[in-house]
Amino acid sequence: MKVCVLYLFCFLVWSQLSAQCPIIPTPKEYTQIDLKIPLGNELSLDSNSIHSATWNYLKSNLKLQTGIDLVHNAENPFIELQFKYEFQSLNQNQPIPISNEYGISFNSDKRTIYFATEESKFHAINSLLQLIRQNGMIFYLQGCQLSDSPAFEWRGLHLDVSRHFFTVDEVKRYIDLMALYKFNTFHWHLTDDQGWRIEIKKYPKLTEIGAFRDRTMIGHYSDQPRTFDKTTYGGFYRQDQIREVVQYARDRFIKVVPEIELPGHSRAALAAYPELSCTGDQNEVPGTWGVFDDIYCSKSETIEFMKNVLEEVVTLFPSEYIHIGGDEAPKTRWKKCANCQQVMTENNLHTAHELQSYFIGQMDQFLTSKGKKLIGWDEILEGGLSPNAAVMSWRGVEGGIAAAKQKHEVVMTPTTYCYFDYYQSGHPSEPIAIGGFLPLEKVYQFNPLPEELSELDEKYILGGQANLWTEYIASMNQLEYMTYPRALALAQAVWCKEKPSFDSFLTDFITYQEEYLDRYGVNYARSIHQPKLEITRAKNGINVHFKGIEENYHFMVCTKEIRGFSMSGEQAMGVNDTLFFEHCLPGTQSKTIRTSVLDEAGRQPFTNEFIVHSILGAEIEMITQPHPKYDHNGSLNLVDGIAGTLPWKGSQWLGFDTSYVEFIVDLGTIRTIQELKLGFLDQNGSWIYLPESVSVQISTESKWRSKKMYSKDVDSSNFSISISKKGRYVRVMIHAMDIIPEGQDGGGFAPWTFIDEIQLK
Ligand code: ACM
Ligand code: ZN
Repeated sequence: MKVCVLYLFCFLVWSQLSAQCPIIPTPKEYTQIDLKIPLGNELSLDSNSIHSATWNYLKSNLKLQTGIDLVHNAENPFIELQFKYEFQSLNQNQPIPISNEYGISFNSDKRTIYFATEESKFHAINSLLQLIRQNGMIFYLQGCQLSDSPAFEWRGLHLDVSRHFFTVDEVKRYIDLMALYKFNTFHWHLTDDQGWRIEIKKYPKLTEIGAFRDRTMIGHYSDQPRTFDKTTYGGFYRQDQIREVVQYARDRFIKVVPEIELPGHSRAALAAYPELSCTGDQNEVPGTWGVFDDIYCSKSETIEFMKNVLEEVVTLFPSEYIHIGGDEAPKTRWKKCANCQQVMTENNLHTAHELQSYFIGQMDQFLTSKGKKLIGWDEILEGGLSPNAAVMSWRGVEGGIAAAKQKHEVVMTPTTYCYFDYYQSGHPSEPIAIGGFLPLEKVYQFNPLPEELSELDEKYILGGQANLWTEYIASMNQLEYMTYPRALALAQAVWCKEKPSFDSFLTDFITYQEEYLDRYGVNYARSIHQPKLEITRAKNGINVHFKGIEENYHFMVCTKEIRGFSMSGEQAMGVNDTLFFEHCLPGTQSKTIRTSVLDEAGRQPFTNEFIVHSILGAEIEMITQPHPKYDHNGSLNLVDGIAGTLPWKGSQWLGFDTSYVEFIVDLGTIRTIQELKLGFLDQNGSWIYLPESVSVQISTESKWRSKKMYSKDVDSSNFSISISKKGRYVRVMIHAMDIIPEGQDGGGFAPWTFIDEIQLK
């Protein structure tokens, strides 16, 4: 690409906000004092006033970050640690603190940390680490006064180690980073179709066979044809390693909640013990992703097996909660299995959902007898919730609301805000991900407490969690990229009762936290630095605005008109200049304009192609509303010049979960229409299918009765239909299938329809 000669850098002032607080999650009360307290080569504390694990934690982190040594000084420590808070119990031998608070006071006279519990002392230590700032070669303590305590008791991050395996050291690193941001629950997804990762002494084949697969998918699940590497892949944790990780987390006040998936996502276990399935067929540990029909049979032998597995699990994990999965379990096999039918008859069960509820109920009874609590994905509500079960709400918040209303405990982890395996920007350089779009700003909007709940029921919401499913996350580097900085936005949601605005958070993040993450060598995503594209409707076209986020980041926008493969014309624009694209005249050929954003060094091109067609920016009335998860920029998305592309990153397409979609385009004036073009996404792996047919009506006024209907079946993602009629209003009706046929991806469920960019000739 020829580089534009004319560089027109603009100084972009994104925000008038000044940074507020170096600590994330933001403390409940924080006052910065204009004081920098220099630190020498040593920092002293009274080691008698601090638990040895916390002492070691601070010592190693301090050394790692700053090179400063933590030393013991009982008489005159640099920072004093003091019990301060009030206690509930009058029994002086066993006082119970009222809250989990801590406080910090660093002023010119004295430096004191106040705490109520060992846990709150650990929180204070993490805040202390973030208050150590650097000025050239000098480290200093930021003067401040603060008091702080968490809003929610479940502040979780999850990690799927089945799709890709992470070593003990990598898991410890993940836990270490969690501790920095005061997360306290590590949800360890230990078993799934593609690998069983926990040693169970009674069933050695679970790891001998179930922990390894012969091949793994390359590229995206929706790619056709699918390709695989031919390498054996796997690994598992011995029980002594599990204990080591649990202790490591415990030293950081993090509970480890293990997940042993049932009755679905069990192909690895069934590869080891095929007799536990309905068919008894010997299948391999799969190297593809998705949902499989083969699940545990509900017969008594399987229930016995599961209880024996859980018997070992409960001895390894001190956590009160044990996660049993419960999600995405097709009932295809159960419906045809004589054993399952017999269980239904014997227990007076009428539906497959009730059978699942029975299965979960058996686990609930067992775990309760062991003094544990069962937690499962929100599907465990179907067929009736077991008496003691807690629910992890992932398909939205509705499951969580229903469970809380039934007085069951809930952890909120809806895909809309908490699935960190989704794309975090639409930038072309984003590494392949599962799909979906979850930028930092969206995570920041997460509130674990839904408005629908009464104050009385709110207490059942334990907190929130983000999930890291690892189909497309094969390395620690990539895991950190997907987790950070989004985990910081989540930390705000689960720690702060009242969090600052997103802009304020972003300023603090850029000012303080990037440097902090750099100290730890975290491979966090820099997506927020890319200029954001804001498109709005304008008279006869669209305005395109490139919005940057930082004061000192310069970039320019360069446009080129592309005809076929040769290019003609180019023009450089300054940032904050708004580009106006006027639609082309009806009947004339659309043109394509490429815009590139270049930084000062000419790197990181952020490139978009705009199709300047004849209804660019036209008004559209959506009769059918897109699903809120896939409603980006509303109807303008369909006429913003940017055609939905692959890979699907969630933001360019409008997505619908209805079998019928209707919208009406208003052209503003009457004109002749020759042809209508519409793009569809065909990604069956994500349950997104081409619709069956499209019908179109044209009218000079917005009335539709007795208007001629143009209809055509859809057989490709680039749909077009000939019309030849005059009119101002174009009514588009899309007909999708009701249910995906069994045997195909998502069989038995409703398909998704994704559309983008409607064009008329
Ligand atoms: C899930 O994402 N299947 C819980
Ligand atoms: Zn069965």
